[in-house]
Amino acid sequence: MGLQQKVTATFTEKFGTPLPLLVQAPGRVNLIGEHTDYNDGFVLPMAIDRGIWLALRPRDDHQVAIESLDFGETAVFHLTNLQNTKSGWAEYLKGVAWALQENGYALRGWEGVMAGNVPKGAGLSSSAALELATARAFQQVSGFAWDAAQMAKLSQLAENKWVGVNCGIMDQMISAAGEAGHALLIDCRTLVTESVPLPPAPDGSGTAVVILDTTTRRGLVDSAYNERREQCEAAAAYFGVPALRDVSISEFLAEADNLESLTRRRAKHVITENLRTLNAAKAMQNADAPLLGQLMNESHISMRDDFEITNDELNVMAEAAQSHPGCFGARMTGGGFAGCAVALVHEDHIDDFVAAVSNQYRQQTNLKPNIYVCQPSDGASVITQN
Ligand code: GLA
Repeated sequence: MGLQQKVTATFTEKFGTPLPLLVQAPGRVNLIGEHTDYNDGFVLPMAIDRGIWLALRPRDDHQVAIESLDFGETAVFHLTNLQNTKSGWAEYLKGVAWALQENGYALRGWEGVMAGNVPKGAGLSSSAALELATARAFQQVSGFAWDAAQMAKLSQLAENKWVGVNCGIMDQMISAAGEAGHALLIDCRTLVTESVPLPPAPDGSGTAVVILDTTTRRGLVDSAYNERREQCEAAAAYFGVPALRDVSISEFLAEADNLESLTRRRAKHVITENLRTLNAAKAMQNADAPLLGQLMNESHISMRDDFEITNDELNVMAEAAQSHPGCFGARMTGGGFAGCAVALVHEDHIDDFVAAVSNQYRQQTNLKPNIYVCQPSDGASVITQN
């Protein structure tokens, strides 16, 4: 049984008829454009066919009561008295309620059942999926208009200020605004988006996006992430601009020798990654899978050598993927330090690719990877039932 059916069946057992409202929001994988979002730059993620499903009905007493099938728990909170307990999955829902109310949205309560299939802690944005599913739930019961960029911003605010994670806008934006069959080029300064289709292979066959989870996880990711942010801010300050987005490659090269080595490498990654991301979007528009793949490979090297956010397992995984004849390109994806790589693969080679990369990774690391072939999917949506 799919998760949509599962949450609906559990809802019906608990609350009877009529059928519930049903909303979903996806996780994401980023094709290219890493650690560029908080530098006001460009990212190119796609929403994946894994997410959070929520079956619900409105309540009249400003209470929210939600059963999580994944955690086997029910959380209850009151919209007029939100308390931050600083831990647990319900804080994401409360955080979104807080951010919406702080920004003038009049919210109605609701009750329901939720379940998800985005692996947690893998860097595939299970938290953004939970935030955007929550925003969709409130939108449905409270009846305000759905503005994807605004919902993404408020979900990011919830994560920054309520949950306390200093993330950029990418994950929430793609979970809010993703489009089936497409990746989204997002300008993280203006939040203007442009959807670009997955390119076919040169022989006209399809391609697929494959997520390669190293299954490595790292604690203290937050502090390493925040350290990178500070280093980027310092580099922008050196150039006297609001963000590294505003430094062109020629301006950078003219000053490169005067920069201290660490700042130079951090800035180089962000400035070149922005260019690679814009070129990758063009390559997709031009149906040029080999060029997109090549840019992905270059991005990995930049993250490995200049931004220093890969680990040994991510390097082994990316190299194993890149060496397969059916692979156009591969790179670490997401915040980094552990987690997943992503590869663009010729559709006729997928089974062989999965088997070969899995074997090679196991031999070199003694770890068993998790591999997901993904479909580019729609962002947070309402599912109509008959
Ligand atoms: C995490 C953050 C995003 C982004 C990426 C790196 O996923 O949540 O905002 O900064 O890392 O590209």
